[in-house]
Amino acid sequence: MSKSLQIHEESKKYTPGGVHTSIRNVDPFLVFTKGEGAYVYDADGKKYIDYQAAFGPFILGHNYPYVNNKVIEAIGRTDLYGVGCTDLEVELARKICTHVPSSEQVLFCNSGSEATYHAIRLSRAVTGRNKLIKFQGCYHGWHDYVARNMLSDWDMIGKRDPGSAGMMEEAIDNTLVCTFNDLEDVERTLRENKEQVAALIVEPIPHNIGCILPEPGFLQGLRDLCTQYGALLIFDEVITGFRHHIGGFQKVAGVTPDLTTMGKAMANGFPIAAVAGKREYMKRFNTEKGGDVWFAGTYNGHAVGTAASIATLEMMENEPVHEHIFRLGEKMRSGLRDIHDRLGVEAVVAGFGSVWTTYFMNFMPKNYTDLKQNNAELYVAYRRKLIEKGIFKMPMNIKRNHVSYSHTDEDIDTTLTITEAVLKELLQK
Ligand SMILES: Cc1ncc(COP(=O)(O)O)c(C=O)c1O
Repeated sequence: MSKSLQIHEESKKYTPGGVHTSIRNVDPFLVFTKGEGAYVYDADGKKYIDYQAAFGPFILGHNYPYVNNKVIEAIGRTDLYGVGCTDLEVELARKICTHVPSSEQVLFCNSGSEATYHAIRLSRAVTGRNKLIKFQGCYHGWHDYVARNMLSDWDMIGKRDPGSAGMMEEAIDNTLVCTFNDLEDVERTLRENKEQVAALIVEPIPHNIGCILPEPGFLQGLRDLCTQYGALLIFDEVITGFRHHIGGFQKVAGVTPDLTTMGKAMANGFPIAAVAGKREYMKRFNTEKGGDVWFAGTYNGHAVGTAASIATLEMMENEPVHEHIFRLGEKMRSGLRDIHDRLGVEAVVAGFGSVWTTYFMNFMPKNYTDLKQNNAELYVAYRRKLIEKGIFKMPMNIKRNHVSYSHTDEDIDTTLTITEAVLKELLQK
């Protein structure tokens, strides 16, 4: 029995399924025991080039020395107090408010789900309304407000599709679901629910279903419609924030939401997240005297997360992080397109900056419904074969890949060579 299998068997005794997040229970089951830069190593010592990046946090690479050293330095001096504020919190908040256009003020929490929960609750308080609009296929965390119509079965698209048993019926029914890149659908929904919609929450690029780019004018259209109908616009930049630009994708798109949620690449793998927005809204949180929207968390602003995030943002400020990851992302996309042309594979390579995915279909999808056309069987078989050959991508349908600052041209070349061999093998079958 391999070491990985032994650890998995042991884990199952103490933990349901042996994993601590639902979709970690994949085939092949992987047990990693070391991460370094662009590489991860399983319990049996096999090395992989990592493009899963733990769903996106690793913008610099695993165990990145600059970040780790700053964290070690910080926790040698300070940790958590439960009163007042810390110097690290202030330094990080200043950086975020300097870089992210919508961030006049910011609050820290520990996960993206907490951040979206707080943003939505705040939008209800500000507007005095209950309903929320989200898009089919987008993911905004595990809580009841948003956990519906995520990776819906194809026959459940747009229908009432709660993601979990045990959810509050009211929460499910107060969340309305629209089609991404369809402004008419959004306008109709706002019109039919006039003065009832507190907020519209959107991943500016829905990366939870790979990489669906917003069509020109779509994000601005959402901005205009939210203003017109008095709903707050929330950009959930938990994936796009910091990965696509230090100011978030809002900086790239030139569209400023009312509230922004951030996490993942914010701290290169250390746990911290944030909710930010206009001061006139943020002051409603009861961290300010007189505020009436509850905001709390024992671990909020812990030195580990704040020091890691400061270090990660410093790297982005001082080194060509985005230039490097964007160049390698583009090299990967164009290399893959060349392979598909050479082998005659029916595929499109979607992506932005450091993120990409290959959809096995013959047109570029613009919403979740279009992804029905993707050959899911091939998508997963392809990823499983790549894993066998030491290229780690999530072995699940419509998942994205990421490059980090630690990846090199050689990693991309190796990946492309292996990919071509894998595709040839799969196509021969
Ligand atoms: C866009 C988006 N928002 C929110 C979340 C929830 O973040 P967390 O898993 O840190 O709670 C995720 C997680 O994948 C996400 O992708």
